[in-house]
Amino acid sequence: MNLQTELAPHHKSGLLLRNPVITAAGTFSYGIEYAKIAEIQRLGAIICKGTTLHARSGNAQPRTVETSSGMLNAIGLQNPGVRTVIKRYASIWETWQVPVIVNIAGETTSEFAQLAETLEGVAGVAGIEVNVSCPNVLEGGAVFGASAEAVAGVTAAVRRVTTLPLIVKLSPNSGDARPTALAAASAGADAISLINTITGMLIDIETRQPVLANGTGGLSGPAVKPIALHMVYEVARELRSSHPHVPIIGIGGITNTKDALEFIMAGASAIQIGTVNFVNPHAGVEIIEGIEEFLRREGVEDIGEIVGAAL
Ligand SMILES: Cc1cc2nc3c(=O)[nH]c(=O)nc-3n(C[C@H](O)[C@H](O)[C@H](O)COP(=O)(O)O)c2cc1C
Repeated sequence: MNLQTELAPHHKSGLLLRNPVITAAGTFSYGIEYAKIAEIQRLGAIICKGTTLHARSGNAQPRTVETSSGMLNAIGLQNPGVRTVIKRYASIWETWQVPVIVNIAGETTSEFAQLAETLEGVAGVAGIEVNVSCPNVLEGGAVFGASAEAVAGVTAAVRRVTTLPLIVKLSPNSGDARPTALAAASAGADAISLINTITGMLIDIETRQPVLANGTGGLSGPAVKPIALHMVYEVARELRSSHPHVPIIGIGGITNTKDALEFIMAGASAIQIGTVNFVNPHAGVEIIEGIEEFLRREGVEDIGEIVGAAL
């Protein structure tokens, strides 16, 4: 049975995963900590916490809170900065069998390009995932991911300076991810991932104030799954004729094998798991085993046969 998934079919060296299960940015740290408790080398890939040009301490506490069937977070991209990430972790990643993809976040298009330049040629880095769900300081704080033009600009700027496989991770907050998916694919993305978190809030009725110090946060977990699945389905339908060689990576509320298979049938060549890692660090391996069992039961030889089955 073949579970292998090529995430960058048009890239010169490609990004071949041994299976389609990836851990999502911000929910698996740098992989190092989880390596102590889970069989991380069995995963298809690991995406590390989003990194920025300079160190960030993130937002004030409280910055996470549980909701009905999910969580809200407003971490604010806490990380030690890209150079420190490389210094601390890349030589460890290099020894791993599981590929590590670095998630990057910039405040300007030029920052995204500088981040990609810094990662160029670093052994242990298998690819870049561009997080466009960040405010563009030169455009009055409007989120890059809300505008197809801005997504095209960031994608093209990163593409110009990197030889690494390039994934562009879309925001769901404009309601329709198709225009930004098309923009990213046309500007040179090797693959598209979606969704990032959906903006939401909770109010504490005793203090009569928002629970999160930041006011709002990003909703993730099972609560977002049907929305994410629909967005992946719509993007897959949009890209299949114009960009059939740009794989889609489905993200949003996946907690078990059935969820993962739904995203694959909606058109995702691979999936990412986020919030579930906080409750079950073995979820990734369990989903890989569950997919294998499903394919065996259904007599399917190659996972590619069911990608987009529902389209
Ligand atoms: C605590 C937390 C931190 C996150 N940090 C990042 C990040 O740094 N960069 C990014 O692109 N997405 C980040 N995300 C979004 C996830 O990667 C994922 O897209 C989202 O949570 C939806 O998937 P899920 O429902 O499986 O968690 C974060 C999510 C959570 C819950």
